[in-house]
Amino acid sequence: MPGGVSLNLDTEDLAQRYERISADRQFRGGKELLRELALAPGQTVLDIGCGTGMLAEYAASLVGPTGSIVGIDPLPLRIEIAKKRSAPNLSFKVGNANDLGEFAPDSFDVVYMNAVFHWLPEKSAPLRAILRALKLGGRLGITTAPPAARRWLNVIRDRVLAREPYNKYPEAQASQYRLSEEGIGKLLLENGFEVALLETRVSASMRGQWTAEGALDFAEASSFGNFLGHLPEDLQVSAREEIKRDLESLIARRRADDTPRENPAHGGRIIAVATKP
Ligand SMILES: C[S@@+](CC[C@H](N)C(=O)[O-])C[C@H]1O[C@@H](n2cnc3c(N)ncnc32)[C@H](O)[C@@H]1O
Repeated sequence: MPGGVSLNLDTEDLAQRYERISADRQFRGGKELLRELALAPGQTVLDIGCGTGMLAEYAASLVGPTGSIVGIDPLPLRIEIAKKRSAPNLSFKVGNANDLGEFAPDSFDVVYMNAVFHWLPEKSAPLRAILRALKLGGRLGITTAPPAARRWLNVIRDRVLAREPYNKYPEAQASQYRLSEEGIGKLLLENGFEVALLETRVSASMRGQWTAEGALDFAEASSFGNFLGHLPEDLQVSAREEIKRDLESLIARRRADDTPRENPAHGGRIIAVATKP
């Protein structure tokens, strides 16, 4: 796969942590996306980058026994967890947004990617493949991280990684590929979609009380090992400790001056719905 994101750093521990942590985070944002997509009984749906399958299971309850959901994800350890949820209208397999050739043209009412788009280094080929797999009038739903978001955790991570000895191991490329609302809208139009909804939202789950350990857990599990994955293992441990220490002092300072306590790993999410005209 091109780019700096690796699909080979996932572990059983990260996959299980993701399953636990995403219940309160990606899952909530995903339910909001499914509301916008107005899933209805009988519909056929493809969940690309389904992770451990929590949102796909919920989607299956919305389309009912006459509908169906297929979830694909390139990480076998996450698909293993997802498969425990399999039901007559719900199935999972290892798969990639860059290879949707196994799905017949015009076969889905809805395709969605929840918290996945920023992991795709190249987005046009997947978008064209999704357009092909959608029925006429079918809908694509996306939630993704915006580039301008001030994620405290990333600011601190970058500061720590600029120090000795971590700076001896520069990241080859960014591991996330974020686009602005404008960039996403343009890309959707260029690839044949009509845009029905495009906005940035901050939901309640992104505020609230945050601990440094909780923020690091979230970053590691949701990046499937890419958070510090470019460093040798011993340096991953010490970099994590330094980030945690700096994050704890930031959280303490913000508590002292009563700054609203935003999730340091989050800065809002872009939500988009586009249709196949
Ligand atoms: C933050 S998780 C989101 C998982 C799930 N959609 C959810 O809502 O909980 C990002 C997911 O994107 C998947 N992903 C990364 N690159 C991908 C690709 N090229 N094709 C499909 N999925 C990909 C990862 O494997 C990971 O499971």
